[in-house]
Amino acid sequence: MTTHTARKKSEGAKAESFELSSNDHMDFHLTGTHKCVTKIILITHGDGVSDIIRFGVSLEKGLLDNFDDLIRRRKYTNRSEAIRDLIRQELLKRDLEEDREVAGAITFIYDHHQRDLLNKIIDLQHDHQETIQSSQHIHLDHHNCLEIVAVKGMSGDISRLADNIKALRGVKHGSLSLSGTGKIK
Ligand code: NI
Repeated sequence: MTTHTARKKSEGAKAESFELSSNDHMDFHLTGTHKCVTKIILITHGDGVSDIIRFGVSLEKGLLDNFDDLIRRRKYTNRSEAIRDLIRQELLKRDLEEDREVAGAITFIYDHHQRDLLNKIIDLQHDHQETIQSSQHIHLDHHNCLEIVAVKGMSGDISRLADNIKALRGVKHGSLSLSGTGKIK
């Protein structure tokens, strides 16, 4: 018997998706424009299309209330999506701790009038050409430049590169933002 819940997964998106749950362990993913269903993809367990496993979690009511409040504020449309993101976040944390492959961006602001700074930045980037995928330079004003360096590589190498850039005299502010490489499902 299919349950009655149909949840809108992405608000504002051109194509809206609805997820229906059923108690016979099947997920129905419906894709449509406005509430008009145009496509139905049926995902069953172990069929080679998807390996979605359904499992139960027991927890105290107060904890669940707090969790529901949190996921509402963060605009999740259902608990499953929120739990999936929490798991991915923890797996990414493991990848960072265990020096696995990650991707992200080093962003920094510097005064290009600082003596030798430009040469030092360019030298550093040439030394890490295997890690650096691309970079973008924006002239913010007469003195200040913003540089965004896209990186992919081992988390330890990337952290060291970011630290080296931030430590250069004349670099006023730098930050490192890391994500997984998309291999975590
Ligand atoms: Ni500039």
